[in-house]
Amino acid sequence: MALVITVAQRKGGAGKTMLAANLAAALAPTRRVALLDIDPQRSLTRWHGLRKERLRQAAAMSFSDLSGWRLAAELDRLRRGHDVVVVDSPPQIDTDARLAIRGADLVLVPLQPSPPDLWAARDTLKLAAAEGRTARLVLNPAPTASRLRSQGEAEIAEGGLALLGCALGNRATFATAFAQGLGVSEAAPKSRAAAELDALLAEVMALIG
Ligand SMILES: Nc1ncnc2c1ncn2[C@@H]1O[C@H](COP(=O)(O)OP(=O)(O)OP(=O)(O)O)[C@@H](O)[C@H]1O
Ligand SMILES: [Mg+2]
Repeated sequence: MALVITVAQRKGGAGKTMLAANLAAALAPTRRVALLDIDPQRSLTRWHGLRKERLRQAAAMSFSDLSGWRLAAELDRLRRGHDVVVVDSPPQIDTDARLAIRGADLVLVPLQPSPPDLWAARDTLKLAAAEGRTARLVLNPAPTASRLRSQGEAEIAEGGLALLGCALGNRATFATAFAQGLGVSEAAPKSRAAAELDALLAEVMALIG
């Protein structure tokens, strides 16, 4: 049975789709990965469409885009045939997002250390807690200045919220890889972005793998 990682955050533009795509791309060479897009914006679906034109660089993964009443059954189906399922969810807490959180072994919540991001993240964390799911915040993009980053981490810790130790910086590599239907580990394997993603993935797999 697959591990299910759902990327969720009520705040729009927090980096959910970017994170989901990169996790899936980094895992795909060594695991049977399924990616599930439940966001009606379908950004991840477009990313995967671009990916199909990059067959030499892009490792294969299963892909579905789906919302509504068939979602729970689809998650069950994907769980049975893969090692890891990564779910990208919409910037709201609707029925589909609830189902994706309910079905997750880990909920990842990307955020910047700012009040609006934290307020929105709290709602997602509350839902994960109500569903008995493990959830972790991920700083994205993490502040470049180490003093600002520590301050952000301290504010999150004071609020009693669980944060991954690894974070992703504000790096153009994430955007350029995404625009090609790739993850940073494929488009720029020696980049700092790929090193950050690797470290984050190791932390995630140690937590649930
Ligand atoms: N660490 C990062 N470094 C550079 N750019 C980033 C980073 N994270 C996200 N971005 C950029 O920020 C924008 C928003 O990211 P993304 O679409 O993944 O957010 P989202 O949470 O999925 O948005 P939505 O809520 O609309 O679904 C994109 O242009 C993406 O390339
Ligand atoms: Mg998105």
